[in-house]
Amino acid sequence: MPRQFFVGGNFKMNGTIDSIKSIVQHLNDAKVSPDTEVVIAPPALYLLLTREHLRKGIEVAAQNLFDQPNGAFTGEISAAQLKDSGITWALVGHSERRTLLLESDEFVAKKTKSALDGGIGAILCCGETLEQREGNKTMEVVIRQLAAVSSTVKDWSKIVVAYEPVWAIGTGKVASTEQAQEVHKGIREWIGKELGSEAAEKTRIIYGGSVSEKNCKELAKAGDIDGFLVGGASLKPAFVDIINAKA
Ligand code: G3P
Repeated sequence: MPRQFFVGGNFKMNGTIDSIKSIVQHLNDAKVSPDTEVVIAPPALYLLLTREHLRKGIEVAAQNLFDQPNGAFTGEISAAQLKDSGITWALVGHSERRTLLLESDEFVAKKTKSALDGGIGAILCCGETLEQREGNKTMEVVIRQLAAVSSTVKDWSKIVVAYEPVWAIGTGKVASTEQAQEVHKGIREWIGKELGSEAAEKTRIIYGGSVSEKNCKELAKAGDIDGFLVGGASLKPAFVDIINAKA
């Protein structure tokens, strides 16, 4: 059974009510491949607005969530509140949160479990820095990040893994198809050993890091690249071309 192609758009801390409404309108009017699962992640402030105006068939993700179901956690948002708002996915472990906000592997694992326990899917981000890659530590780092999750979460049917080499994020230096495929293949082999062959076969492993309409088709040819997590390009009309990369 082929894995459904999955494309996420991570708006990061970008946009206004007007600009997000215009992105949503563009997506509503676009010819989008029915074979691609599409999720967009606006800033938290605009989640309800996006869900209200966006066409059915495109899902909305939060860029973050907390690891507790409710309570005295000022400023945080729970999986239950996201689900209550029609938000069906959450990004967890994005490298910007791991580095800038010092989110540990264990905290990311607790957030992942919280998302799944709360009935939403988790887009679980992992990836190495340039220094770690140059030190041949890529797989060691990525597996450490993923193993923190598998130590408490055994059902990965609502997890999409996003491999995002930190050195490719926002730099224009996209990983080569060979580089990305090598890591994706290694992740899939690890999932097979850790969680079984069915999980390895079914888990989508998507690539993020300077994906554009110019490089997406080439990357999409790789057998273990099941889609993309797109940053900057998701704010532009050409995001539709990335969604349709395999159409
Ligand atoms: O989460 C996706 C993001 O980290 C990739 O950013 O701008 O390199 O596509 P960008």
